[in-house]
Amino acid sequence: MFAEVRMLFSAFIVICAIIQQVNGRNPINQWTLIPNTLVVEVDGCLGQQLLTCLDSAEMGRRNVQVQDIVWKKDGVEEMQRGNSYRVQLEESQGGGNYTCHGKDGSLLNHTLVLIQMDATKQKRILLRTDQNDYLKCSAKNHNGELRCSWTWHPYRLGKVTLVRVQRGFPDPDYTHCSVEVSDQQWTCSSPLGNITCVVDLNGRGISCRDEQHCPYAEENQRIHLTIYVRSNYYLVEDYSTSFYMSEIVKPDKVTISKVNETTIQWSYPCTWSSPHSYFPLTFEIVEIKKTCRRQNPCEHPCITKKVVNTMLVSPGVTYQYKVKHRRNPVCVRAQDVLCNSRWSDWSSYKPIQELPRHRPDPDVRG
Ligand SMILES: *[C@@H]1O[C@H](CO)[C@@H](O)[C@H](O)[C@H]1NC(C)=O
Ligand SMILES: *[C@@H]1O[C@H](CO)[C@@H](O)[C@H](O)[C@H]1NC(C)=O
Ligand SMILES: *[C@@H]1O[C@H](CO)[C@@H](O)[C@H](O)[C@H]1NC(C)=O
Ligand SMILES: *[C@@H]1O[C@H](CO)[C@@H](O)[C@H](O)[C@H]1NC(C)=O
Repeated sequence: MFAEVRMLFSAFIVICAIIQQVNGRNPINQWTLIPNTLVVEVDGCLGQQLLTCLDSAEMGRRNVQVQDIVWKKDGVEEMQRGNSYRVQLEESQGGGNYTCHGKDGSLLNHTLVLIQMDATKQKRILLRTDQNDYLKCSAKNHNGELRCSWTWHPYRLGKVTLVRVQRGFPDPDYTHCSVEVSDQQWTCSSPLGNITCVVDLNGRGISCRDEQHCPYAEENQRIHLTIYVRSNYYLVEDYSTSFYMSEIVKPDKVTISKVNETTIQWSYPCTWSSPHSYFPLTFEIVEIKKTCRRQNPCEHPCITKKVVNTMLVSPGVTYQYKVKHRRNPVCVRAQDVLCNSRWSDWSSYKPIQELPRHRPDPDVRG
């Protein structure tokens, strides 16, 4: 047993030695995520990252003696003294909130060190969703607003630490993101305009607005979005996606109402872009046989689908549909005619609401 552990351990050291000969050194890279937050990219091997408490100008101004500077990691005093501190790196260890203090214990500066593992060794704080993507983005219309959501790993809770978003190819030299007071709102400026994103209160998504988006113009450049999330254990990971607004458009559900016992009606969702003649929707209507006993009858109807193309109908009006049988439930969904993007979720409606028959409740016994 011990021999096995020892063998594994020496194998790890040999692999690290080989990696270090090929790649150079650990950390592989380091960069400032936001002021006072340093991301250290590591390969898992042994390494060191140097932190500095105060720059030389500040040292002189504050009249601090180097030998008096004390370091703490997450509030616990460390052995190392002086203006610089060596963070020991190994596997995913080394992250933390490092603070340096003067002789009297006063806080001089702080650096949050976040560890980014080599992509192949990451544990993943977010889960993939059905489309095999980590981030799922959609827009209710062509007005320049969009939403992205994600799913946290149930055992690895975390929070968003940076959002980087811009039109055109991501280039940190031309895109500058600033965080607003709450630290959950980001505005990124790039030569192609500004995009603002706000992280949801529950931390499971963001809402963004492209300030310069013109709904009538052809989009020449994709929107590129990267979110950096950190776990409670000082690990950071980034997740990216890119899209044209027209690709992620998904209209809201339509609202169906009853005209009379055989006719239903609906109009464009009120969140859809106007004028409707410029942003036409097409509707798909499915009438489900009363005898169809499937789980999601709108998605898996027992009869064939029927499509109404509203390009043929004058916009701005209400669409009416006469059901074949007044007891059949009807499902309706909408799609942008010109983009061929996603369909809205289904809305369903029963022209005749069946009154529940009175039946003795089996759970209540006298
Ligand atoms: C404090 O530390 C940060 C790094 O976290 C550094 O960028 C900054 O210059 C330091 N402040 C001073 C006053 O030296
Ligand atoms: C790190 O510690 C400093 C000093 O206590 C504090 O101001 C800062 O908010 C802490 N940062 C984090 C991310 O906890
Ligand atoms: C983008 O934001 C920056 C900084 O907030 C501002 O100075 C600039 O005018 C904005 N650009 C546009 C095109 O609105
Ligand atoms: C229901 O309304 C439609 C449209 O207004 C009408 O054509 C139809 O005759 C009405 N049916 C009944 C049973 O009232």
